[in-house]
Amino acid sequence: GLSRRAFLGAGAALGGLVLLGPTRTGQARAAAPFEPTRTVTLGAGETELKLLGPDGPATRILAYDGVPFQTLRVPRGTRLKAEFVNGLDEGSTLHFHGIRMPNEFDGVPTLTQPLVQPGGRFTYLLPLDDPGTFFFHPHCDETGQAGKGLAGVLVVEDPRDPAFDAEHVLCLKDWRLAEDGSFLPLTEPDGASKAGTFGATRTVNGAASVELTAPAGGHARLRILNLDSTRIMDIGVEGGEAEGFEAWLIAVDGHALKPVRLDDLPDGIWRMGPAQRIDLDVRMPADGGTVTVGDYRASDIYHFAAIRTEGQAAKPRKGPLALPKPELPRPDMKKAARFSFTLQQATDAAVKNLALPADDPLAKALIDSLCVGSTTYWGIDAESWPAGNRRNLPPPLARMTTGRSCRVEIRNETRFPHPVHLHGHAFEVVSSSLDRLPRHFADTVLVQPGEAVEIAFVAAPGDWAFHCHILEHMETGMMGWFRIV
Ligand code: C2O
Ligand code: CU
Repeated sequence: GLSRRAFLGAGAALGGLVLLGPTRTGQARAAAPFEPTRTVTLGAGETELKLLGPDGPATRILAYDGVPFQTLRVPRGTRLKAEFVNGLDEGSTLHFHGIRMPNEFDGVPTLTQPLVQPGGRFTYLLPLDDPGTFFFHPHCDETGQAGKGLAGVLVVEDPRDPAFDAEHVLCLKDWRLAEDGSFLPLTEPDGASKAGTFGATRTVNGAASVELTAPAGGHARLRILNLDSTRIMDIGVEGGEAEGFEAWLIAVDGHALKPVRLDDLPDGIWRMGPAQRIDLDVRMPADGGTVTVGDYRASDIYHFAAIRTEGQAAKPRKGPLALPKPELPRPDMKKAARFSFTLQQATDAAVKNLALPADDPLAKALIDSLCVGSTTYWGIDAESWPAGNRRNLPPPLARMTTGRSCRVEIRNETRFPHPVHLHGHAFEVVSSSLDRLPRHFADTVLVQPGEAVEIAFVAAPGDWAFHCHILEHMETGMMGWFRIV
């Protein structure tokens, strides 16, 4: 299976083994002095949560500082110093998903830093210049660690945002639980090699559903995060016939877009894969009534939030309440360098090559230090992470030049959708062969079977991971990296 035990013998097992990280050529940056304006400690460890209801058994989940999905709120421009303390019994790191940052703080084991061993620490220095809804999570044994709940929310507030009458953060995650509250296996070959291994206990902020309030006629900002390992969700909002109700999509992956009425989107929903976030502006009905927020995917409807009116908005505003335009580097589409990558089922050869005997210390060191599974089901351009019987980091999928605009086509030749994430950048989602997406900035884009999506960005220096965010897919091969010098 994918699960890895604590890799306590790392140093010893690596002795005499060539497990090279990338050489850092051309990456010398004048080290700008970093004056933290906010310092936090994030200790990964166990805590208890009653996921099967208030009268049910408690589950030993993982969380930072014992607070499930804790939310860090900071103003835009914050210089965040985050001290990670690994209280788990296996290696881990912290990855701040979607944040544009110096590469050395990106948290990808072997690629940007050594794995933090149990009891170890690592300090991340992050300039938070982009406002929005972000999150942070481990970047090793994600199926095991994030699967057990290890994640936190990072809200970077923009003082220029319009004032909302209410704001709510909604973290969606399913759990794989037995009746006694213990975890079922977090991955199964049939899931990992297909759509993923799903949890049947669905939650929002750790509960089956939440009841929220917002003033009648007022505007509620919902920050919705898909923190599940596997599930793709179709987020919609219902207000019945209530007078005045309306809902707009105002940001994707934290980045503002020109507000789109949910009703004007195909099927009235926004499809969101693991790691993707949206901000909604919900205008509440003028007098009474309840607004329902749910996942309307397929027949499996899950209503996770009800918003009741409480009080009256001081001054009714029509809306939508648009967020300020993102201040992100805009790629030059004409001058851009072009790349194309294909998401694939791993070839039989790749699968066989990787079937290293589990007791082979080389195999174990490779699996642990690259944080991969022992099986390969997926690949990008016939390369898997790692591919074949390599004993070190696979070569980069692409080499790019700092400051250069890049257009990257992502083609999905598999039978399953894949939410593809590029580290360290906010990219523009330029086009889709299925023509289903408005142009917007994002850090993760869902690519449907048979679809080709084009993204574009201005390349930032570093070695950046590029992978599917269905965690079992990334850990069984659908991961690579770009070297930008
Ligand atoms: Cu959300 Cu490679 O990460
Ligand atoms: Cu995938």
